[in-house]
Amino acid sequence: MNKIEQAESILKKYNQNHIKIKTEEQAEQILEIDFAQLEELYQYAINKKNIDDIENIEPIKAINPDKLKKEELNEYESLGEEEIKKGKFAVAIMAGGQGTRLGHNGPKGTFKLEINSKVKSLFEVIVDKLKEAQKKYNITLNCYIMTSPQNHEETKEFFEKANYFGYPKQFIKFFKQGDLPLLNKEGKLLLDKKGLIQQASDGNGGIFHSMAKNGIIKELEQKGIEWVFIGSVDNLLVKYVDTLLLGLAIKEKVKIATRTVIKNSPYEKVGVLCKKDGKIKVIEYTEIPENMRVAVDENGEIIYGEAHIMCNLYNIEAIKKASTKELKYHVAEKKAEYIDKTGKLIIPQEANCYKFEKFIFDSFCLFDRIAILRGKREEDFAPIKNASGKDSPETAKILYENYMKKIHKI
Ligand code: UTP
Repeated sequence: MNKIEQAESILKKYNQNHIKIKTEEQAEQILEIDFAQLEELYQYAINKKNIDDIENIEPIKAINPDKLKKEELNEYESLGEEEIKKGKFAVAIMAGGQGTRLGHNGPKGTFKLEINSKVKSLFEVIVDKLKEAQKKYNITLNCYIMTSPQNHEETKEFFEKANYFGYPKQFIKFFKQGDLPLLNKEGKLLLDKKGLIQQASDGNGGIFHSMAKNGIIKELEQKGIEWVFIGSVDNLLVKYVDTLLLGLAIKEKVKIATRTVIKNSPYEKVGVLCKKDGKIKVIEYTEIPENMRVAVDENGEIIYGEAHIMCNLYNIEAIKKASTKELKYHVAEKKAEYIDKTGKLIIPQEANCYKFEKFIFDSFCLFDRIAILRGKREEDFAPIKNASGKDSPETAKILYENYMKKIHKI
C-alpha cells in the first residue's frame, strides 16, 4: 500500500471519509495523527467527562509578602539573586497560543501597542526585562520561546527582523510545541485552505513534552540551569526574573513555585488554586460550583480566590518529571474557519469545534508541596486577552504604564 492508500484506509476506519486525499502531503499528515486518541478525546468532549469532579476540594492560601518581615523578604530576594548570578536560572515564554480572542493577525507576541510613547511588541516588552536583568546581575539569561507549528517560522522571522531587540541572539532559542486536529461537533476533521487537516497547538501544558523532544531539557542540564521561570506572552506585568519567587522556592525547598493575585470578583474568568485530595490543583472558572465561587471568609476575602496567572517557576527536576507524565487534556469549544465539501470557505459565527489542550498547572499535583506567593494585581497582572473591553490592550497599557511610573517614581 502506498501512503495515500494507507491514509485512506485510516480515514475509513475512523469514519472520516469526507476527507479526500489528493497529495502525499495530505497523506503524510494523516499518517501522523493518533486517531485512537482523537476518538477518545471526542468521547470526552461530548460526554463532558473533562469536567473534574469537585469532591474533596479545600481552599488554599498563598504566602502574602505584605505579612512577611523585612528580613525575610530580603533573605528571599538575595537567595534568588545569588542563584541568578550563578547562572542557574533561565526563562521560557509560552508563545504557542492562537490568541483567538485578541484576533491579531500573527503570533500573539508580535502584537504591538504604544507604551510610554514607544511602540513595542509583547515580545519586546519581555526582552526588555531580560536586558534589565542583564544589567542588574551582569549575566545574560537564556530564553526559550515555545512556538506552535503554526506560528514557528513567523515568530523566528519577527525576532530576526528586529535583530532580537538588541539581545544576544545565541541566548534566544525557539522550540515547537505539539498540535492536535480540531474536531467539529460531529467528531469530523476540518480542512484548511491548503487542503490539510486543521490542527491547533496542544495547550501550554504541552511545554514539558516539547522541551524534552526538542532537547531543551538536555541543554538546561548541560548549562547547569536549575530553575526556569515559565510565563505567558500576553501579561505585560509578568516578572520574568522573579527573584522573590525564586528565593522563596529555594528557602521552602520546593520544585515548583507560582505567583498568584486575588480574584477581583467571584466571576473573574481565571482559574484558582485549591487542594484536591491533598494535592495542589487549579480549578477552572468554568468548573467551580457557584457556592464555592462566591464563598467569602470572615474578612470578606474570596475563599477560592488565589488566581493562577501563568507565573510559574520550575526546578529542572520538576520539568523532567512533568515531561515523563501525560497531563490530561481539557476540551474547549472554539470558532474555526474551514473549507467545506464544495470548496467554500465557511466562517462560523459561533463555536463550531472542539479543541484539546493540556494546561501547565496540571503539573502542580506531581508534588506534595509547591510554594504559592501572592502578588498584587497592579504589579503582576495586566493580561491582553480580548481586542477591547476587559483584559484588552487598552486596560493592560494603563496598568503597565502606572506600574512603570511607580517603580521609576516618574
Ligand atoms: P491562553 O490560554 O489565554 O490562550 O494562553 P491564547 O492562545 O493566548 O488565547 P485564546 O484563548 O485563543 O484567545 C495563555 C498563554 O499560554 C500560551 C499563550 O501563548 C499564552 O502565553 N499558550 C496557550 C501556548 O503557548 N500554547 C498553547 O497551546 C496555548
